[in-house]
Amino acid sequence: MQYIAYRTYWRGSLVPPLIDQHITDVATARWGAVRNPRLAEIVRALIGHLHDFARDVQLTEQEWATAMDWLTRAGQISDDKRSELILASDVLGLSMLVVEMNYALHPGATSAAVFGPFHIEGSPELEFGADMAYGVPGEPLYIVGTVRDLDGRAIGGATLDVWQADADGMYEAQLDTAEARLRGKYTSRPDGTYCVRTVAPRGYSIPMDGPVGELISRTGISHFRPAHVHFRISAPGYEPLTTHLFQKNAAYLESDVVFGTKADLVVEFQRRPPGSTPDGRTSDVPWLLATYVFVLQPLP
Ligand code: BEZ
Ligand code: FE
Repeated sequence: MQYIAYRTYWRGSLVPPLIDQHITDVATARWGAVRNPRLAEIVRALIGHLHDFARDVQLTEQEWATAMDWLTRAGQISDDKRSELILASDVLGLSMLVVEMNYALHPGATSAAVFGPFHIEGSPELEFGADMAYGVPGEPLYIVGTVRDLDGRAIGGATLDVWQADADGMYEAQLDTAEARLRGKYTSRPDGTYCVRTVAPRGYSIPMDGPVGELISRTGISHFRPAHVHFRISAPGYEPLTTHLFQKNAAYLESDVVFGTKADLVVEFQRRPPGSTPDGRTSDVPWLLATYVFVLQPLP
């Protein structure tokens, strides 16, 4: 009985059954001696899972070499503006899983979503309703609302760091430009209100010219993200919130390649005729209005 189970599992291989497990045991014991207990815990679990993975799929040496080459190229194509390994984590669902595990959501608080690779630090500080498109063409979009706490109280002085792609799906970080474009930092007013003026985002493809794109191209998986605007909101005493707002009924909402879409982050972009806008000005052209209340949770 023992013998049959062993032969079935190893598909007829003559490898003695305990040698491979012995390597795992020795490796986990050795790495268990790492001085930092948390690092020891992480590395031991990593070894256990990696070895089990290799056993489960009966990894061949050729497949192992292909994986090492893929990881090497992912590192080589990365620089200070691009991380192919973070992109890999995003498309495999790992980034969003880590977000979910670490942003323990109180009922009523706004959901978090992946940070993504295209945020730029030090965006210009903008007034209520100032235009963060800086002339980039597109349909005018106002995102207005309030920042509140779990009890509905207004949070004044919150910083809303906002960024998005242009109509071609390109972020400033992907372009060779010295000027800030499609990003800005707004501050909520004492009554919690904020007003972002921008242009409507469009859905876009993640970068497909590297090893991640190569892998996705070998599948039928969509490589698009639905139209969205990124926010990182912080206020003293509250947990910083990194999230997106998605346009309701946008393409790819159901198939976001990085698993970022959440029902409470989907908002209607209402079409408005020319006329007065939320910043007290007048628009000569039709514009879009999205209204959203961000709810922050207190620091633990
Ligand atoms: C983004 O939304 O900017 C993004 C997130 C993850 C991977 C690629 C892009
Ligand atoms: Fe994005």
